[in-house]
Amino acid sequence: MRIGVFDSGVGGLSVVKSLLDHHLFEEIIYFGDTARVPYGVKDQNTIIRYSLEALEFFKNFEIDLLITACNTVSAYALDEMRLQSTHDVIGVVDPGVLALKNAIPDTNASILILGTKATVKSGAYEKGLRALGYTNLSAIATSLLVPIVEEGLYEGAVLQSALDHYFGHLPHAPDAIILGCTHFPLVAAAINTYFEGKSTLIHSGEAIVEYLDHHYDVHPQSNPTQLKFFASENPEGLRKTAKEWLAL
Ligand code: DGL
Repeated sequence: MRIGVFDSGVGGLSVVKSLLDHHLFEEIIYFGDTARVPYGVKDQNTIIRYSLEALEFFKNFEIDLLITACNTVSAYALDEMRLQSTHDVIGVVDPGVLALKNAIPDTNASILILGTKATVKSGAYEKGLRALGYTNLSAIATSLLVPIVEEGLYEGAVLQSALDHYFGHLPHAPDAIILGCTHFPLVAAAINTYFEGKSTLIHSGEAIVEYLDHHYDVHPQSNPTQLKFFASENPEGLRKTAKEWLAL
């Protein structure tokens, strides 16, 4: 199966990492809209327009499935993308909600959703979680973590002070934290340490693997996955990040 993976930038590589770890596909074509990242501070119409343009890009390849490895796009543009597409388009929000349910069945659990401004504003995770009976929900737009990850600051003072800024007021560690932005798994270790390992972290990449396993006929491949990386700006930069993150 040849699939496309789309993100506003490099964050979706954290989803590719999970797909590669599970050897699920023969070929992955990745497109990062690096010229226009971040999407998370843009309005709904812009996010939809950019996402439909990305869909056009994938028409150059005969893909069987498109994974939008961006929570912001998943929260706003999936319906429009599906309408204009001949193949399946799946996002990361529904898989994240299902992964949470599988990891933490107790609907009284305290759940903290982290995301970009746009994702948090959409209320997409809350909607999905409430439908399953979860009520103890809160959300923080941790937008600064996007450029921090893009700068490769996975540890150190800058990251630490951003975590203090966002989480310093919390009375206790939540039972679960949804990493509702595909950039955030890169700083998952620091978030885990911040909350002293007391919170279960939900990661879009692992969530999508779980979702694919339940909804699609995918099986581990014996051959290595073919990878192609494209970007709307500085594709060499994206390929360099992919080499580092994916240990290629
Ligand atoms: N990776 C994107 C997401 O999952 C966030 C980055 C952005 O703001 O474009 O929402």
